Amino acid sequence: MINRKKIIAGNWKMNKTQAEARALVEDLIREIGKFDEAEIVLCPPFTALSAVSELLSPVPNIRLGAQNMHEAASGAYTGEISATMLRELYVRYVIIGHSERRQYFHEDNATVNRKTKAALAAELRPIVCVGETLPERESDKWKSVLETQLREGLAGFGDKELADIIIAYEPVWAIGTGKTATPAQAEETHQWIRKVLATHFSAAVAERIRIQYGGSVKTENAKELLSMPDIDGALVGGASLDARGFTAIIKNACLK
Ligand code: 13P
Repeated sequence: MINRKKIIAGNWKMNKTQAEARALVEDLIREIGKFDEAEIVLCPPFTALSAVSELLSPVPNIRLGAQNMHEAASGAYTGEISATMLRELYVRYVIIGHSERRQYFHEDNATVNRKTKAALAAELRPIVCVGETLPERESDKWKSVLETQLREGLAGFGDKELADIIIAYEPVWAIGTGKTATPAQAEETHQWIRKVLATHFSAAVAERIRIQYGGSVKTENAKELLSMPDIDGALVGGASLDARGFTAIIKNACLK
Protein backbone atom coordinates (compact mmCIF):
# COMPACT_ATOMS: atom_id res chain seq x y z
CA MET A 1 0.00 0.00 0.00
CA ILE A 2 1.20 3.48 -0.84
CA ASN A 3 2.29 5.65 2.06
CA ARG A 4 0.59 9.04 1.84
CA LYS A 5 1.98 11.59 4.31
CA LYS A 6 -0.91 13.09 6.25
CA ILE A 7 -1.61 16.78 5.73
CA ILE A 8 -3.34 18.79 8.43
CA ALA A 9 -4.37 22.32 7.56
CA GLY A 10 -5.92 24.98 9.77
CA ASN A 11 -8.43 27.20 7.99
CA TRP A 12 -8.79 30.20 10.25
CA LYS A 13 -11.55 31.70 8.08
CA MET A 14 -12.30 35.36 8.97
CA ASN A 15 -10.70 35.16 12.41
CA LYS A 16 -7.60 36.65 14.06
CA THR A 17 -6.20 40.14 13.73
CA GLN A 18 -2.48 40.38 13.04
CA ALA A 19 -1.70 40.65 16.73
CA GLU A 20 -3.90 37.66 17.55
CA ALA A 21 -2.40 35.70 14.67
CA ARG A 22 1.14 36.35 15.95
CA ALA A 23 0.18 35.15 19.43
CA LEU A 24 -1.44 31.98 18.06
CA VAL A 25 1.51 31.16 15.81
CA GLU A 26 4.03 31.70 18.60
CA ASP A 27 2.04 29.24 20.75
CA LEU A 28 1.75 26.77 17.88
CA ILE A 29 5.47 26.84 17.16
CA ARG A 30 6.12 26.08 20.83
CA GLU A 31 3.47 23.33 21.08
CA ILE A 32 4.21 21.60 17.77
CA GLY A 33 7.98 21.72 18.17
CA LYS A 34 9.90 19.70 15.60
CA PHE A 35 7.02 17.30 14.88
CA ASP A 36 7.13 16.37 11.22
CA GLU A 37 5.13 13.15 10.97
CA ALA A 38 2.53 15.19 9.10
CA GLU A 39 2.58 18.14 6.73
CA ILE A 40 1.19 21.08 8.71
CA VAL A 41 -0.34 24.12 6.99
CA LEU A 42 -1.76 27.33 8.49
CA CYS A 43 -4.23 29.38 6.45
CA PRO A 44 -4.74 32.77 8.12
CA PRO A 45 -6.74 35.61 6.58
CA PHE A 46 -4.91 37.72 3.95
CA THR A 47 -4.20 40.54 6.42
CA ALA A 48 -2.22 38.22 8.71
CA LEU A 49 -0.25 36.35 6.02
CA SER A 50 2.73 38.64 6.17
CA ALA A 51 3.05 38.48 9.97
CA VAL A 52 2.59 34.69 10.04
CA SER A 53 5.05 34.27 7.16
CA GLU A 54 7.75 36.12 9.10
CA LEU A 55 7.22 33.96 12.18
CA LEU A 56 7.26 30.75 10.12
CA SER A 57 10.36 31.60 8.09
CA PRO A 58 12.75 29.79 10.47
CA VAL A 59 10.25 26.93 11.05
CA PRO A 60 10.64 24.21 8.38
CA ASN A 61 7.79 21.93 9.50
CA ILE A 62 4.89 24.42 9.39
CA ARG A 63 3.86 25.86 6.03
CA LEU A 64 1.75 28.80 5.00
CA GLY A 65 -1.49 28.65 3.02
CA ALA A 66 -4.10 31.16 1.85
CA GLN A 67 -7.88 30.75 1.96
CA ASN A 68 -8.61 32.02 -1.54
CA MET A 69 -7.07 33.81 -4.53
CA HIS A 70 -8.20 35.39 -7.79
CA GLU A 71 -7.56 33.59 -11.04
CA ALA A 72 -6.14 36.57 -12.96
CA ALA A 73 -2.45 37.49 -12.72
CA SER A 74 -3.22 41.18 -12.07
CA GLY A 75 -5.66 43.87 -13.14
CA ALA A 76 -8.83 45.74 -12.28
CA TYR A 77 -10.33 43.32 -9.75
CA THR A 78 -11.03 45.50 -6.73
CA GLY A 79 -10.59 43.66 -3.47
CA GLU A 80 -8.88 40.62 -4.93
CA ILE A 81 -5.46 39.00 -4.40
CA SER A 82 -3.37 37.19 -7.03
CA ALA A 83 -1.22 34.06 -6.83
CA THR A 84 1.92 36.14 -7.39
CA MET A 85 1.05 38.31 -4.38
CA LEU A 86 0.70 35.15 -2.29
CA ARG A 87 3.98 33.71 -3.57
CA GLU A 88 5.78 36.87 -2.53
CA LEU A 89 4.74 36.12 1.06
CA TYR A 90 6.04 32.53 0.82
CA VAL A 91 2.55 31.07 0.68
CA ARG A 92 2.76 27.46 -0.59
CA TYR A 93 -0.87 26.27 -0.49
CA VAL A 94 -4.19 27.83 -1.34
CA ILE A 95 -7.70 26.64 -0.49
CA ILE A 96 -9.90 26.74 -3.60
CA GLY A 97 -13.68 26.46 -3.78
CA HIS A 98 -14.44 26.19 -0.07
CA SER A 99 -18.18 25.66 0.39
CA GLU A 100 -18.44 29.08 2.06
CA ARG A 101 -16.99 30.65 -1.12
CA ARG A 102 -19.45 28.63 -3.18
CA GLN A 103 -22.38 29.58 -0.94
CA TYR A 104 -21.72 33.26 -0.20
CA PHE A 105 -19.59 34.34 -3.16
CA HIS A 106 -21.22 32.30 -5.91
CA GLU A 107 -18.15 30.35 -6.90
CA ASP A 108 -18.99 27.39 -9.09
CA ASN A 109 -17.03 24.48 -10.51
CA ALA A 110 -15.85 26.58 -13.46
CA THR A 111 -14.44 29.21 -11.06
CA VAL A 112 -12.74 26.44 -9.10
CA ASN A 113 -11.23 25.14 -12.32
CA ARG A 114 -9.84 28.54 -13.36
CA LYS A 115 -8.46 29.30 -9.89
CA THR A 116 -6.86 25.87 -9.59
CA LYS A 117 -5.22 26.33 -12.97
CA ALA A 118 -3.86 29.75 -11.95
CA ALA A 119 -2.61 28.40 -8.63
CA LEU A 120 -0.74 25.55 -10.32
CA ALA A 121 0.78 27.94 -12.86
CA ALA A 122 2.16 29.99 -9.95
CA GLU A 123 3.47 26.83 -8.24
CA LEU A 124 1.01 27.06 -5.38
CA ARG A 125 -0.48 23.76 -4.22
CA PRO A 126 -4.27 23.98 -4.45
CA ILE A 127 -6.45 22.39 -1.77
CA VAL A 128 -9.59 21.86 -3.84
CA CYS A 129 -12.74 21.56 -1.73
CA VAL A 130 -15.72 19.40 -2.61
CA GLY A 131 -18.74 18.41 -0.56
CA GLU A 132 -22.46 17.82 -0.62
CA THR A 133 -25.30 19.53 1.26
CA LEU A 134 -27.58 17.74 3.72
CA PRO A 135 -30.47 17.25 1.26
CA GLU A 136 -27.97 15.86 -1.27
CA ARG A 137 -26.62 13.43 1.32
CA GLU A 138 -30.06 12.37 2.47
CA SER A 139 -31.44 11.86 -1.04
CA ASP A 140 -28.40 9.81 -1.98
CA LYS A 141 -27.31 12.34 -4.60
CA TRP A 142 -23.91 12.82 -2.98
CA LYS A 143 -22.09 10.56 -5.42
CA SER A 144 -23.24 12.44 -8.49
CA VAL A 145 -22.67 15.83 -6.80
CA LEU A 146 -19.09 14.96 -5.91
CA GLU A 147 -18.48 13.41 -9.32
CA THR A 148 -19.59 16.64 -11.04
CA GLN A 149 -17.56 18.85 -8.70
CA LEU A 150 -14.45 16.78 -9.43
CA ARG A 151 -15.00 16.41 -13.18
CA GLU A 152 -15.74 20.10 -13.75
CA GLY A 153 -13.37 21.48 -11.13
CA LEU A 154 -10.45 19.46 -12.50
CA ALA A 155 -11.39 19.67 -16.20
CA GLY A 156 -8.45 19.88 -18.58
CA PHE A 157 -5.89 18.63 -16.10
CA GLY A 158 -3.73 15.54 -16.48
CA ASP A 159 -1.79 13.36 -14.07
CA LYS A 160 0.98 15.95 -13.81
CA GLU A 161 -1.44 18.60 -12.50
CA LEU A 162 -3.38 16.24 -10.26
CA ALA A 163 -0.18 15.13 -8.54
CA ASP A 164 0.21 18.65 -7.11
CA ILE A 165 -3.40 18.96 -5.94
CA ILE A 166 -4.88 18.06 -2.57
CA ILE A 167 -8.60 17.33 -2.38
CA ALA A 168 -10.55 18.32 0.73
CA TYR A 169 -13.84 16.52 1.24
CA GLU A 170 -15.99 18.77 3.40
CA PRO A 171 -19.63 17.75 3.72
CA VAL A 172 -21.43 21.10 3.98
CA TRP A 173 -23.71 19.71 6.70
CA ALA A 174 -20.71 19.00 8.92
CA ILE A 175 -19.05 22.43 8.72
CA GLY A 176 -19.30 24.42 11.91
CA THR A 177 -22.29 22.35 13.01
CA GLY A 178 -20.63 19.99 15.46
CA LYS A 179 -22.04 17.20 13.31
CA THR A 180 -19.29 15.01 11.86
CA ALA A 181 -19.49 12.33 9.23
CA THR A 182 -18.88 9.00 10.93
CA PRO A 183 -15.46 7.56 10.15
CA ALA A 184 -17.16 4.83 8.08
CA GLN A 185 -19.24 7.40 6.14
CA ALA A 186 -16.19 9.59 5.53
CA GLU A 187 -14.10 6.58 4.46
CA GLU A 188 -16.78 5.41 2.03
CA THR A 189 -16.90 8.91 0.52
CA HIS A 190 -13.11 9.21 0.28
CA GLN A 191 -12.99 5.85 -1.48
CA TRP A 192 -15.64 7.09 -3.90
CA ILE A 193 -13.64 10.26 -4.60
CA ARG A 194 -10.50 8.19 -5.27
CA LYS A 195 -12.49 5.92 -7.57
CA VAL A 196 -13.85 8.90 -9.53
CA LEU A 197 -10.32 10.30 -9.85
CA ALA A 198 -9.09 6.94 -11.14
CA THR A 199 -11.63 7.09 -13.97
CA HIS A 200 -10.44 10.53 -15.10
CA PHE A 201 -6.73 10.15 -14.36
CA SER A 202 -4.34 7.22 -14.01
CA ALA A 203 -4.93 4.73 -11.21
CA ALA A 204 -1.40 5.46 -9.98
CA VAL A 205 -1.97 9.18 -9.46
CA ALA A 206 -5.42 8.57 -7.92
CA GLU A 207 -3.70 6.27 -5.43
CA ARG A 208 -1.09 8.90 -4.59
CA ILE A 209 -3.35 11.95 -4.20
CA ARG A 210 -4.14 13.05 -0.66
CA ILE A 211 -7.77 13.54 0.35
CA GLN A 212 -8.41 15.53 3.52
CA TYR A 213 -11.59 15.36 5.56
CA GLY A 214 -13.09 18.58 6.90
CA GLY A 215 -16.15 19.38 9.01
CA SER A 216 -16.19 19.65 12.80
CA VAL A 217 -12.83 17.89 13.21
CA LYS A 218 -11.80 18.12 16.87
CA THR A 219 -9.33 16.52 19.24
CA GLU A 220 -11.94 13.96 20.24
CA ASN A 221 -12.74 12.66 16.74
CA ALA A 222 -9.55 13.30 14.76
CA LYS A 223 -7.74 10.07 15.57
CA GLU A 224 -10.63 7.85 14.59
CA LEU A 225 -11.26 9.73 11.34
CA LEU A 226 -7.61 9.87 10.36
CA SER A 227 -7.00 6.21 11.08
CA MET A 228 -9.23 5.31 8.11
CA PRO A 229 -7.14 4.14 5.14
CA ASP A 230 -8.34 6.74 2.62
CA ILE A 231 -8.44 9.76 4.94
CA ASP A 232 -5.10 11.44 4.42
CA GLY A 233 -5.47 14.47 6.62
CA ALA A 234 -7.84 17.10 7.88
CA LEU A 235 -8.92 20.62 7.01
CA VAL A 236 -9.75 22.06 10.40
CA GLY A 237 -11.82 25.20 10.96
CA GLY A 238 -12.90 26.21 14.46
CA ALA A 239 -10.57 23.83 16.29
CA SER A 240 -7.51 25.27 14.51
CA LEU A 241 -7.93 28.59 16.35
CA ASP A 242 -6.62 27.13 19.58
CA ALA A 243 -2.94 26.17 19.77
CA ARG A 244 -3.34 23.27 22.22
CA GLY A 245 -6.37 21.82 20.47
CA PHE A 246 -4.87 22.05 16.98
CA THR A 247 -1.60 20.53 18.17
CA ALA A 248 -3.48 17.68 19.83
CA ILE A 249 -5.31 16.99 16.56
CA ILE A 250 -2.01 16.88 14.67
CA LYS A 251 -0.14 14.76 17.17
CA ASN A 252 -2.90 12.32 18.17
CA ALA A 253 -4.00 11.76 14.63
CA CYS A 254 -0.62 11.27 13.09
CA LEU A 255 1.34 9.25 15.63
CA LYS A 256 1.12 5.58 14.78
P1 13P B 1 -15.14 23.48 11.16
O1 13P B 1 -13.95 22.61 11.54
O2 13P B 1 -15.25 24.70 11.99
O3 13P B 1 -16.38 22.67 11.08
O4 13P B 1 -14.85 24.01 9.67
C1 13P B 1 -14.47 23.12 8.71
C2 13P B 1 -14.01 23.87 7.52
O5 13P B 1 -14.80 24.49 6.84
C3 13P B 1 -12.58 23.88 7.21
O6 13P B 1 -12.32 24.43 5.96
